[in-house]
Amino acid sequence: VQLTHVTRNITSTASHSLEQNGGSCAMSLYRNIVWFIKGMREYTRAGHEAASKNFMDKDLDMSVVGRSFMITGANSSIGKAVAMAIAKKGGTVHLVCRNKERAEATREEIVRESGNTEIYVHLLDLSETRRVWEFAEAFKKEYTSLNVLINNAGCMVNQRELTSDGLEKNFATNTLGKACYSVYVLTKCLIPLLEKCKDPRVITVSSGGMLVQKLNPTDLQTERTAFDGTMVYAQNKRQQVVMTEVWAKAHPKIHFSVMHPGWADTPAVATAMPQFHQMMRDRLRTAAQGADTVIWLAVSKTAVETASGLFFQDRKVVPTHLPLAWTHSSQEDVQVFIGQLKTLALTVRPSGVFS
Ligand SMILES: NC(=O)c1ccc[n+]([C@@H]2O[C@H](COP(=O)([O-])OP(=O)(O)OC[C@H]3O[C@@H](n4cnc5c(N)ncnc54)[C@H](OP(=O)(O)O)[C@@H]3O)[C@@H](O)[C@H]2O)c1
Repeated sequence: VQLTHVTRNITSTASHSLEQNGGSCAMSLYRNIVWFIKGMREYTRAGHEAASKNFMDKDLDMSVVGRSFMITGANSSIGKAVAMAIAKKGGTVHLVCRNKERAEATREEIVRESGNTEIYVHLLDLSETRRVWEFAEAFKKEYTSLNVLINNAGCMVNQRELTSDGLEKNFATNTLGKACYSVYVLTKCLIPLLEKCKDPRVITVSSGGMLVQKLNPTDLQTERTAFDGTMVYAQNKRQQVVMTEVWAKAHPKIHFSVMHPGWADTPAVATAMPQFHQMMRDRLRTAAQGADTVIWLAVSKTAVETASGLFFQDRKVVPTHLPLAWTHSSQEDVQVFIGQLKTLALTVRPSGVFS
């Protein structure tokens, strides 16, 4: 016990002094090592199997007939597994995808396997923020209900690329779109519709990778720092966690949650992180294992018994910061971040569509 106490004190002092002295490289190394050790224990297939011993089968044993779900990136891996599971429970499913052929093929497969015909395809590239605005506004006019929004689509672009709106692509897909912009714009536009419906929920698929990043509200599109696709992705995923916390306070009628699916064997991982994929291949989760907590958050009664705005992994609330990692942000940073999202979103708002 004494040894643990001493080690904790030394680590605490060291990390504090490193941060104070601008030791950001050492801090980054510390965060990455702690995160990787945690990942090997919890994020792998074995981690899921261990955690699933505490899952309650009855949590997912229900019909969701009459409820309506929108899932972005629904044509592949985690998103597709979620769409299929919800279709099998009788829900109306809106598949939001960017590729017509893959989307239609997914719809056909879901209808065939589930027998549910209430499956609709919507074509949308989430990195094109202007289109996200247009899509969400059109959806609100066409449909009278949406109970659950699942922000699943995500990307990791390893070189700095701009969208047609002039926004950095990871950020545009993961935050403003999905990458932070699309998640921000899609969610904000759909909140009025969600609020009108029964038991509304918003689930955002983030990543445990966000644990290595502190919110950086001053360089949202990586214009001033060296571009590292993995870290930009992790920063976007941190942004999703912060957005979820802010929305939960601002919109108490809706249950917001954000989650980590674990390390699953999907095209995103194989393409964006080939070395990691090669090294971890035998330990990665299946897409269905990665999807389990998303499904649980979307349909179960137990999920909404917890407070809104929290971060989940394997059906449990988990911390959003590693110990001693100095990733907490001040209220001021959060306000600056949200203010910038609003401003950026408004700059790509299509003229004439909104008041
Ligand atoms: N797999 C993991 O280990 C892991 C770990 C942590 C977090 N996640 C998160 O889990 C989510 C699902 O990813 P996955 O692992 O299941 O990968 P995936 O199979 O590659 O699925 C990603 C989905 O997002 C879609 N997408 C990407 N950019 C898009 C855009 N601009 N517009 C519309 N759709 C877009 C993809 O469409 P296309 O098929 O057209 O490319 C695909 O349907 C992501 O948010 C990812 O960050 C995954």
